[in-house]
Amino acid sequence: MKKVLIATEKPFAKEAVDSIESIGKNVGYEVVKLEKYTTKEELLAAVADVDAMIIRSDKADRDVINAGKNLKIIVRAGAGYDNIDLVAASEKGVVAMNTPGQNSNAVAELAFGMMVYNARASFNGSSGTELRNKTIGIHAYGNVGKYVAKIAKGFGMEVYAYDPFVKAEDIEADGVKALNSVEELYKTCQYISLHIPANDKTKKSINADLLGLMPKNACLVNTARKEVIDEESIVKFMEERQDFSYVSDVAPDNAAVYADKFAGRYFFTPKKMGAQTAEANINAGIAGINQIIDFFEKGDIRFKVNK
Ligand code: 3PG
Repeated sequence: MKKVLIATEKPFAKEAVDSIESIGKNVGYEVVKLEKYTTKEELLAAVADVDAMIIRSDKADRDVINAGKNLKIIVRAGAGYDNIDLVAASEKGVVAMNTPGQNSNAVAELAFGMMVYNARASFNGSSGTELRNKTIGIHAYGNVGKYVAKIAKGFGMEVYAYDPFVKAEDIEADGVKALNSVEELYKTCQYISLHIPANDKTKKSINADLLGLMPKNACLVNTARKEVIDEESIVKFMEERQDFSYVSDVAPDNAAVYADKFAGRYFFTPKKMGAQTAEANINAGIAGINQIIDFFEKGDIRFKVNK
């Protein structure tokens, strides 16, 4: 009998866990849970005797992977897999997968929640602004970017995107104007919504030089990863550009500086909240258990992300 661990420091909604358990049970798998854990030791102990593991932003580093003596597959129920040590997984013959697209709408909706909150002066009673007729630039046009484009059109925004990995004609087929460079995107748009992954090329790539290109009353919306931001450079930039605001799903490491210096021009979620909806949890969680079953029963490695 295969044993599957759901290891979630930030738990899924109950409906999602119930579905994962019942789908597993139907094929004779045992599903166990480690939720809201606070130490790495708890995760190391929980992974010791399982064949598969479903995680969210939980860190599957080399120690965790090596602690899983029977571990064959890790599914990151979500998009970004920067929390898995892919080299360690490959070395140990462990397959790593993500569940692309399953939580994208939830993330896109949060981007707009934060944008409206910012445009309406944090709902503090003063007069704000509207999103209609404003420009928005989608930096990376993947699953989340597409949903952002759709919602932005509903708000009546002018929508632009830049993504070197997506054909301009595919972007334009969605009624979105494809721009040729990242600089052009930042020059054109009052709002920038970030959807780049965190990797060696993108870490700290969003800096003052780029943001300095943005027009008056610019707002950076980050539902990607805090690691892609050059934190120090942005603080200096925000001191100079009093019209600039920054909203982010999860606080940067230097969040205290913002509280001191930039009141009313920033908003940070206390925990990563983009994918924290029942719908996203159900979609990603069910995809996760199904991918594990398909892997063991049919050798399906369609969603594998390591080499
Ligand atoms: C993702 O990469 O899918 C999102 O950042 C969601 O992360 P979470 O599952 O930890 O909320």
